Amino acid sequence: MSAVLLNVNGIEVIYNHVILVLKGVSLQVPEGKVVALLGGNGAGKTTTLRAVSNLLAGERGDVTKGSIELRGERIEKLSTSDMVERGVVQVMEGRHCFAHLSIEENLMTGAYTRRDGKAAVAQTLEKVYNYFPRLKTRRNSQAAYTSGGEQQMCAIGRALMANPKMVLLDEPSMGLAPQIVEEVFEIVKDLNTKEGVTFLLAEQNTNIALRYADYGYILENGRIVMDGAAKDLRENEDVKEFYLGMGGGGDGNPRKSFKDVKSYKRRKRWLA
Ligand SMILES: Nc1ncnc2c1ncn2[C@@H]1O[C@H](COP(=O)(O)OP(=O)(O)OP(=O)(O)O)[C@@H](O)[C@H]1O
Ligand SMILES: [Mg+2]
Repeated sequence: MSAVLLNVNGIEVIYNHVILVLKGVSLQVPEGKVVALLGGNGAGKTTTLRAVSNLLAGERGDVTKGSIELRGERIEKLSTSDMVERGVVQVMEGRHCFAHLSIEENLMTGAYTRRDGKAAVAQTLEKVYNYFPRLKTRRNSQAAYTSGGEQQMCAIGRALMANPKMVLLDEPSMGLAPQIVEEVFEIVKDLNTKEGVTFLLAEQNTNIALRYADYGYILENGRIVMDGAAKDLRENEDVKEFYLGMGGGGDGNPRKSFKDVKSYKRRKRWLA
C-alpha cells in the first residue's frame, strides 16, 4: 500500500456564489499511482482539478465545504504558486502553449519556480527531450505551427520542467488522433514508473484512461457515482455499457447514465 498523497474530502464547489457544481466529491490519490477521474461533459472533472491546484479563484469559484489535503496538510487556502512549490502542477485542458514562443521557450516557462540553478534546469530539459523526442526535433519551432499532439506534449513537458511530484492532467486526449493519444499515454505511464510522478488525470475517454490508470473515479453531475481499481472498472457491466460503448439498453432506449438505471440504484446504496 502506498501512502496517500492527495486526499479530497467531501468538497463542494460553487461558481459565482450561486452555481453549485461539485456536491461533495471525495477521492484519494496514492503516492506513485495514476488515478483517472472520468465522466462526460460538464460532470465536474475540470472543476475538481482546479480545486486541487487552487485555480478556482480566477474562475470566480470557491470550495465551500469539505477539505483538500496534500500529505496531510490542508491546502484549500494556498495559492497556485504555493502548490507548484509543493510539487503539484496542473496541465490545463486545451493544451495552453504560448503560440508565439518556440517549443523550447514554452518549456522554459515551466521552470520559473525553480531555485536549484541553471544546470539543474538544463538537466530537466534534457530529460523532457528524452521522454518527448518529438519536442526535441521541434525545439526551435514556434508553438503555433506545431501539431495538436506536439502542443499537448509541450504542455506536459512544461509542467515537468517544474520538477513536480504530482501532475494534474486535464483531458490529455482531447482532439488528438488515437495513435497520438496512445503515444501521450505511453509517456505518462513511463514518467509514472520511471520518474515516480503521480498523476491525477481527467478524461472523457474512459477506454484509454482505464488502460493506463491504476484506479478510477466516475463523476456524474458533481458526484462520484462509482470508483474502483481500473481493471475492475474495465470489467464492470455498467461501465462497459455507459462509458465504454459496449452493450445496449435492452429495452430499445439507450441508457445515458447510471442515474437512469433503477436496478443500479438498488444495487448501489450510495445513490440513495
Ligand atoms: N467558470 C465557471 N463559471 C460558472 N460555471 C462553470 C465554470 N466552469 C465550469 N462551470 C460549470 O460547472 C460544471 C462542470 O464543469 P467542468 O468544466 O468542471 O466539467 P468537466 O467534467 O471538466 O467537463 P468537460 O469534459 O466538458 O471538460 C458545468 O456545468 C459548467 O458549466
Ligand atoms: Mg473539463
